Amino acid sequence: MPVTPRIDLASVTRLTELADYIVPFTIRVMCDLAVADQLIEGPLPVDVLARRVGADPAALTRGLRALAGRGIFTEVTPEVFGLTPLAEPLRSDHPFSVRECFPLMPPDIYSWARLTHSLRTGETAFGHVHGGTRYYDHFADHPYECVRFERSAESVNPFVLRTVAPALDLRTARTLVDVGSGHGTFVAGLLTRHRELHAILLDLPHVVTEAPDVLARAGVADRCEVRGGSFFDPLPEGADVYLLKTIIHDWPDEQATAILRNVRAAARPDSRVVIVESVSRYGNHDDTGKVMDVKALALFGGRTRTEPEFRALLDDAGFRLARITPTSSMSVLEAVPAVPAPDGDRATGRPAVAAAGRTA
Ligand SMILES: C[S@@+](CC[C@H](N)C(=O)[O-])C[C@H]1O[C@@H](n2cnc3c(N)ncnc32)[C@H](O)[C@@H]1O
Repeated sequence: MPVTPRIDLASVTRLTELADYIVPFTIRVMCDLAVADQLIEGPLPVDVLARRVGADPAALTRGLRALAGRGIFTEVTPEVFGLTPLAEPLRSDHPFSVRECFPLMPPDIYSWARLTHSLRTGETAFGHVHGGTRYYDHFADHPYECVRFERSAESVNPFVLRTVAPALDLRTARTLVDVGSGHGTFVAGLLTRHRELHAILLDLPHVVTEAPDVLARAGVADRCEVRGGSFFDPLPEGADVYLLKTIIHDWPDEQATAILRNVRAAARPDSRVVIVESVSRYGNHDDTGKVMDVKALALFGGRTRTEPEFRALLDDAGFRLARITPTSSMSVLEAVPAVPAPDGDRATGRPAVAAAGRTA
């Protein structure tokens, strides 16, 4: 007996909303044009708005109307648009602004168009489309896209910091290495909260160029040294804490283990490694980590891991997972050295990081 489909028009409507990419693209264009910033003082006629953001008035009207239908922006009177609560976080001055979170990046978009390749093969669509290039290698020759990517990755940091910082016990820590720090907004947030803390921020040389400005704006530049380098090379030794925030999920097991082994080789026996990431759980609950897992598949070649997978990875690198603290955004995983480092304990206990951090 063939099973006939269930007729449920609400499901048809809901699926249509979820599956279209018109709305996400239109939101991203509004971010690019900084439309919300122009509406801070109140609604504006579309011709004024279009002049200010450099758009065609009729085209802008069409885009804004499409979004107003979904609760983002409102057409208060014909051709006059204003902000709604859903549009507020698109303002640049919002404390949890997501305006830079959604850049329109052609190399990403071409990759998403080949997501089928990833699902068929398990390989990254990014590599498939870009001649085998790895995601982060691409940025070495594309500085504009590099800055836009880093800003998008870091734009959620004020929100993540608010939820994660209380779960991250740094009261006794004096030195921290942020491994794969981006421009340093996360570590800047930690340094602001912990006045005794000194840090070294480490990311690729073409990435860290923006870091001094970020640290200066946060008023913490005197407690943070900026280092350009790779986390596949030896890391600064002897820190109290090694932080890896949204790093491990970018990499397959082999590279993820290599990064953690480098941390282990640099760590003192009493150092801690702190991983801030989503931890995957089986089941049907809504979970950003599971959505980001598809991004890791399509672009980076990594994945969101479960607790047993994290435990195994850390174990392989010479760490013992001590605790996981879930928060309303990401989880905080804390690990401690379990055995002598795989290639010997290079760290001598000499607080090299402390000295470097204080003289920066
Ligand atoms: C998802 S971002 C996270 C940035 C930062 N930890 C945060 O959460 O705001 C991943 C970072 O890893 C960095 N990265 C990639 N490959 C790297 C390498 N070989 N050495 C150091 N950093 C690297 C990227 O440049 C990028 O800043």
